[in-house]
Amino acid sequence: MSGYVEIFEVGPRDGLQNEARQIPASEKIALVDCLSRAGFRRIECASFVSPKWVPQMASSAEVLAGITRAPGVSYAALTPNMRGFDAAMEARADEVAIFGSASEGFSRANINASIAESLERFRPVAEAALARGVPVRGYVSCVVECPYDGVVAPEAVARVVAALRDMGCYEVSLGDTIGRGAPEAVDAMLAAVLGEIEAGKLAGHFHDTGGRALDNIEVSLGRGLRVFDAAVGGLGGCPYAPGAAGNVATEAVAARLEALGYDTELDTGVLAEAAALARAMRA
Ligand code: HMG
Ligand code: MG
Repeated sequence: MSGYVEIFEVGPRDGLQNEARQIPASEKIALVDCLSRAGFRRIECASFVSPKWVPQMASSAEVLAGITRAPGVSYAALTPNMRGFDAAMEARADEVAIFGSASEGFSRANINASIAESLERFRPVAEAALARGVPVRGYVSCVVECPYDGVVAPEAVARVVAALRDMGCYEVSLGDTIGRGAPEAVDAMLAAVLGEIEAGKLAGHFHDTGGRALDNIEVSLGRGLRVFDAAVGGLGGCPYAPGAAGNVATEAVAARLEALGYDTELDTGVLAEAAALARAMRA
């Protein structure tokens, strides 16, 4: 196997959003700046959600204002609604993401809306972004299992993926939010999703609760996916997904990809520095 595989770094957002300690913006900025030097093309470092729901992300505008923007790197932000989108534009996010769920239980717990309601909220965000030439990424959570509803049918995932595709998302990231997915289940889910969208427009987003994230990445590679979300230092979790461990660690994904013969174009020395910074930020 050969070729470039991109790791989409989500540590400063997904990695940190669940930390109990209110981390000063200066520490987050230092982490993002280190990641910029490691060679990532996309770094998710902000989330314009309600500060009552996710207090840790309240400093997102400050973080985007303080980072040193490396040429060619896209600094991404989550935007659940128009208010979040306007704030992201004000803060000069390079791209935005709308985030839905394949299961009703998680959708309700995470964004206080049914799946159908959430898609209606996302539509104006996607329209506004596309009108301004801002790339919009889509997330689908609970693509295998939901902490509230249990096993999720692959067809339910495919339906939400199709809706996000129709809104103009340039890529849809498939989230094993609670990290319980077994490779067989991930493979069956991908088979259904690939009926709606090509592999080149998908990303895998694996949390590592069950220790199967790297195996799930291999299964996804076999299905043609070439983008994987990961968090440096293995930080993370979602406040509305009880029991979910961190994202798969970026450095572990990079090592596995290199061992499989893929090129991540990352500087492993700088990556190790970033991982140390990230781990030191843990409460
Ligand atoms: P809501 O309560 O339904 O909406 O929240 P609302 O419109 O009634 O607003 C409630 C309050 O939030 C109001 O303030 C609004 O002004 C404020 P109040 O009047 O009570 O003082 N508000 C906002 N403030 C700042 N920025 C905004 C904004 N919107 C409303 N954009 C909402 C709906 C979506 C806002 C809420 O449910 C929320 O913020 N949820 C956050 C969920 C979240 O961030 N989860 C973690 C990220 S998703 C994830 O981690 C999964 C992922 O990694 C993939 C995977 O692993 O599966 C992506
Ligand atoms: Mg996540």
